[in-house]
Amino acid sequence: MRVLVVGSGGREHTLAWALQRSPEVDAVYVAPGNGGTHAVAQNVAIPAEDVRALTEFATHNAIDLVVVGPEAPLALGLVDVLQRAKVPVFGPTAAAARLESSKAFSKAFMVENNIPTAAYRSFTDYPSASAYLAGQHAPIVIKASGLAAGKGVIICQTMAEAEAALRSVMVERDFGAAGDEVIIEEYLTGQEVSVLAFCDGKTASPMILAQDHKAAYDGDKGPNTGGMGCYAPAAVMDTAQQQAVLEQVLQPVLRGMAAQGTPYVGILYAGLMLTPHGFKVLEFNCRFGDPETQVILPLLETSLAEVMLVCLNGTLDTLTLRWRPGAAVCVVLAAGGYPGHYRKHDLISGLDFAAAQPGVLLFHAGTTREDGAIYTAGGRVLGVTATAPDLHTAIHSAYAAAGMISWPDMHYRRDIGAKGLRGEA
Ligand code: AMP
Ligand code: GLY
Repeated sequence: MRVLVVGSGGREHTLAWALQRSPEVDAVYVAPGNGGTHAVAQNVAIPAEDVRALTEFATHNAIDLVVVGPEAPLALGLVDVLQRAKVPVFGPTAAAARLESSKAFSKAFMVENNIPTAAYRSFTDYPSASAYLAGQHAPIVIKASGLAAGKGVIICQTMAEAEAALRSVMVERDFGAAGDEVIIEEYLTGQEVSVLAFCDGKTASPMILAQDHKAAYDGDKGPNTGGMGCYAPAAVMDTAQQQAVLEQVLQPVLRGMAAQGTPYVGILYAGLMLTPHGFKVLEFNCRFGDPETQVILPLLETSLAEVMLVCLNGTLDTLTLRWRPGAAVCVVLAAGGYPGHYRKHDLISGLDFAAAQPGVLLFHAGTTREDGAIYTAGGRVLGVTATAPDLHTAIHSAYAAAGMISWPDMHYRRDIGAKGLRGEA
């Protein structure tokens, strides 16, 4: 079969890599892809948000399966349009993707379906939001309801910060229309974990747990980023707790979405906080995580194409996911200055050496390829993944390979996976 992956980041490189390894798959296309995806797929120069051009490409090229990587095309209804064009597509419809694209929808849905989450109020006008905030205490969290590329969440340690954050979202409109509605939410503490599950509308099949490192600098310091690194499996919940997440979060989502006529098919990603009072959902994403994908898929033994097809057939209950033993770590190499302003178009050296290391997989993110050379083209530039029999060895291999790669101003965290080692002791 012929597969089209939509997107251009490390997640999409990993999806393309896993799909071309699937025995069912003959050809993989990536739109638009990046400087590394050509190694596993054919790049197609269509932006991920050009719903019309993607649909035309899929119909004219006899694509048997479209896999949508990022949230933006899902929110734009790419899945709905492809379904109308009779192109098989793995991902939720725009209505189902509201679990991510509208935090106001998602929070109300969680309350209706008794899914544990932080206490909150939502507002569409500034005076009411401001009056409510005045009666609250810091620390407190202000969130723009709409999609804001991971930047619409502001953790406020003081009330002055919270008032400024509310103004930035609702008055100065720093997040544009994403700030039409705002969430004011209870501040939670604890370890975070990403629970991703394949979903066929009725059944949720969870993957191994992954732990992202969202802060820019070591020790979880500095500004929030899209994710600076990840490891899996994360030993932060025992089997009973994981079963509780299935029964109290994932299954209620599928029941609730089906009940309102928007069945959920695709990847459901629950970002959880493990608080002293049990787990609570911080957010839902309606797609694979980045960089979670770069550690989860290298450990998935089952063919990714097979799982996706089974989800589209509604028979996920008949399939048991198989996982490779061992651990995986992904260290994200970023451009200096990221997540703030950063340079582009620096020549990257050492990629071939790094890729030749045993157990190492290089997943490109913000790169471009010109005359056979690879240049930086984004904030998160590369993901260096290593798999090994244990987490300690995987960390060692990933950092040994990362050390072989360089460009001016390259920046990466030195402590990816360290949380997992402490947990393992
Ligand atoms: P979200 O995009 O909603 O997952 O938020 C991004 C990050 O902000 C999360 O990964 C958490 O680190 C943090 N965060 C979000 N909501 C809360 C909360 N209620 N309490 C504490 N931290 C939060
Ligand atoms: N790694 C966080 C995300 O994909 O949203």
